[in-house]
Amino acid sequence: MIFFEPTREWVRWLIGFAAERPIIDVGCGDCRLLDMLNEEKYLKMCGVDPLVDCDIISEYILKGIQVIPLRAEELMLCDYSDQVFVFARPSHTGFVASVLERSENNVHLYVSKPENVKIDIPKHYVVKELETPFLRCEKTYLISKNQS
Ligand SMILES: C[S@@+](CC[C@H](N)C(=O)[O-])C[C@H]1O[C@@H](n2cnc3c(N)ncnc32)[C@H](O)[C@@H]1O
Repeated sequence: MIFFEPTREWVRWLIGFAAERPIIDVGCGDCRLLDMLNEEKYLKMCGVDPLVDCDIISEYILKGIQVIPLRAEELMLCDYSDQVFVFARPSHTGFVASVLERSENNVHLYVSKPENVKIDIPKHYVVKELETPFLRCEKTYLISKNQS
């Protein structure tokens, strides 16, 4: 089931925002976002989702895209500072907070309905809404650590 339905314009905006950095779609579901990035010839990306189907993993390997069948909490995170984590309509199980805490030197985009921000993002993070091309019901937020 697809929750987030990115527009082509939004995907192009994301590519510009990522500026050649790897995009990691955490909780990628049916990999719709990865597909659209691939259609735009952006190949520096991977998906993570514990419920991703084995057939999907094989299909994406053939396309050169890695989809990792793990819970985000189990993901080994390297402290590179050049990765863009995308959480698009994540389930409210705490995995966003787990990744935020363990990948502080990276960039985090949260894409969801405004009412979900409080549920998924711990209070000590700064949430800034970004101006992006139109989305049906989601907003795009840049999440950063409160420095004060
Ligand atoms: C509401 S769906 C959104 C899927 C996709 N991003 C979309 O918008 O279509 C939430 C996704 O998060 C995944 N998920 C649940 N728990 C997770 C966890 N601990 N780590 C990573 N992904 C998880 C689910 O399997 C599901 O595919």
